[in-house]
Amino acid sequence: MFFLLDKGGRTGELTAVREEMLTAHAPAEHRVVAVPDPPRDRDPDDYEAEVRRWHRARVDALHTAITANLAPGETGGFLVWGDPALYDSTLRILAQLADDADGGVTIEVVPGVTSASALTAAHGIVAHGIGEPVLTTTGRRLAQTPDGADLNQIVMLDSHLAFRETAAPDDIVHWGAYVGTDHQILVSGRVADVTDEIVASRAAARERHGWVMDIYLLQRAR
Ligand SMILES: C[S@@+](CC[C@H](N)C(=O)[O-])C[C@H]1O[C@@H](n2cnc3c(N)ncnc32)[C@H](O)[C@@H]1O
Repeated sequence: MFFLLDKGGRTGELTAVREEMLTAHAPAEHRVVAVPDPPRDRDPDDYEAEVRRWHRARVDALHTAITANLAPGETGGFLVWGDPALYDSTLRILAQLADDADGGVTIEVVPGVTSASALTAAHGIVAHGIGEPVLTTTGRRLAQTPDGADLNQIVMLDSHLAFRETAAPDDIVHWGAYVGTDHQILVSGRVADVTDEIVASRAAARERHGWVMDIYLLQRAR
């Protein structure tokens, strides 16, 4: 039994991708239950409190779906985009569900390919100079990266392309949208040379598909 959190609307394409994968790889007798994702305020006054409220609503929605569809001893699966260790609440939700079930639920994680790895593979690059660290962060946090920690940054969840505010003209950006899919777009170069192209590609792609997921590696000029 696979549970899909369905965000509805035009991101239904993401649900379709998951269903195709299940058709291709899961045992024929598998079943799928789409669970409507509870609505979320994307621009709340208190971001952390809204995320906590939303997580609780998701736990409750999944709890209802699991109770209705899964008998004791059966296994439920959750397909996670990329790897669940990065910017994904599935494991927090399942931990909460397991907590509520008081030991009656066991969780096993199968590792996935994160979009960070998909990005560097698509560009055919190493994410850092020899022995250097890499910071993974979000667009919301990019401006808070301390000097010295910003040599190599992988930036996710950035609909505003925040590097336009933080990067120097000679810094290098390796950007990718829909990485690993048929719609993949890649752009890389000096910030001064490619920013306009990234902004335009992102806007056009979003218009075309109704949604966009993009990620970039930002490297300080050496
Ligand atoms: C909620 S996070 C989930 C990350 C995911 N767990 C992972 O391991 O990649 C969503 C963000 O991941 C990035 N992302 C996920 N899939 C992507 C893809 N195929 N192409 C580009 N960026 C992607 C984008 O930055 C997007 O805003």
